[in-house]
Amino acid sequence: MMRRILPLALLLLAAPATAQDRSPGLSGNLPAGAPEVQAPVPEVGDGRGGQPAGQPPATTEQAPPTGAPAPAVAPVAPAAQPARPAPATDALRGEISAEELGLQRALQGGRIEGRITIPDRQAASLIQPEGREWRVFHNRTLAWTGGIAVLGMLGVLALFYLVRGRIRIESGWSGRSLLRFDLLERANHWMVASSFIVLALSGLNLTFGRYLLLPLIGPEAFTALSHYGKLAHNFLAFPFTLGLVVMLLLWVRDNLPNRIDLAWLRAGGGFLGRGHPAAERFNAGQKLVFWITVLGGGLVAASGFVLLFPFAVTDIGGMQWAQRIHGILSVLMIAAMLGHIYIGTLGTEGAYEAMGSGRVDYNYAKEHHSLWVDEELAKARETVAPPGGARVAGAD
Ligand code: HEM
Repeated sequence: MMRRILPLALLLLAAPATAQDRSPGLSGNLPAGAPEVQAPVPEVGDGRGGQPAGQPPATTEQAPPTGAPAPAVAPVAPAAQPARPAPATDALRGEISAEELGLQRALQGGRIEGRITIPDRQAASLIQPEGREWRVFHNRTLAWTGGIAVLGMLGVLALFYLVRGRIRIESGWSGRSLLRFDLLERANHWMVASSFIVLALSGLNLTFGRYLLLPLIGPEAFTALSHYGKLAHNFLAFPFTLGLVVMLLLWVRDNLPNRIDLAWLRAGGGFLGRGHPAAERFNAGQKLVFWITVLGGGLVAASGFVLLFPFAVTDIGGMQWAQRIHGILSVLMIAAMLGHIYIGTLGTEGAYEAMGSGRVDYNYAKEHHSLWVDEELAKARETVAPPGGARVAGAD
């Protein structure tokens, strides 16, 4: 509350006194030459001080203590006051009220800092105008970017499914399989994926929950959900980050870009038309998913830790930038991962098994990762028939 009162009081001190300021109801009749003392600013707002929203009190005179006789003066009708704009309430988050615009004009975009004697240096900053830009970013830019990215991706995927349908194994299931991801790779993938999903949902709740969930489930359930969501968001940052590091170590070698990726991209990755371009263990699309996960996820994690330990590594300006980076990259990553999840499940027949059992059908592998299958078969032949050793029947 003090944070609201003090800037307003400062504004009134800085602004030229108006006729209203000098009205007896506010500052009283001062003797000539006496310094004009500013009356306390009535705080207006939803339910504050028992005052209806947007209504200044009828008088600022102190109420007599209970039981004391009423002053022997006739009540003075309050001076007619110009209608005041309603203050920015929670419902108007992101809107700038006329009151606030006046304050911004008086400050001329500057900061107001004071001297403090407590250890928390941040408390010395009373007004930090970049905070308003940050608020507009959080309530407008991020909400719109996130909404467009996530809904846009869902729309594109739905359209793609309707037009192209599921990408089938063209030569049908062979009944033979080969190991694509071992237990460590799958366990690590699911640790990253499950923590990412909870991080994404609890993060989206911070941006959209009050508009989408609060009206649906009511304040009590929304409070509980947001509380536990925030706890989960804080703690799952750790397994997510650990998973990213392990993923990088396990898969970086197979995800380095090369010429084969260019040919794969030129052929549209087999998504458009029939036939599949040649690919190694990971095709260019999967390499993109890998780098989005490792680099995008890494930046999201780093900026998230800056926010998790406030002011440990940066000041308020740095915190605001960390939040911007964290928010924008997160919503873009969520949109990208929706595409990945679609391709890994509904979109491609035979793909999910790679992360389920770890084994994929031979025909699926041959169609989507022909060069990788050749490599695996060559390795198997070497293992079964070491150079110079006896050949084992059926090795090829
Ligand atoms: C329900 C959610 C998810 C499902 C069903 C899923 C499914 C899959 C499948 C089937 C593969 C193997 C594709 C192949 O044969 O190469 C895969 C790989 C991968 N996944 Fe996921 N995934 C999910 C969530 C995530 C999330 C949230 C992330 C990252 C934050 C992620 C990152 C990766 C990466 C980097 C790879 C290797 C590159 C690739 O194959 O695309 N996955 N996933």
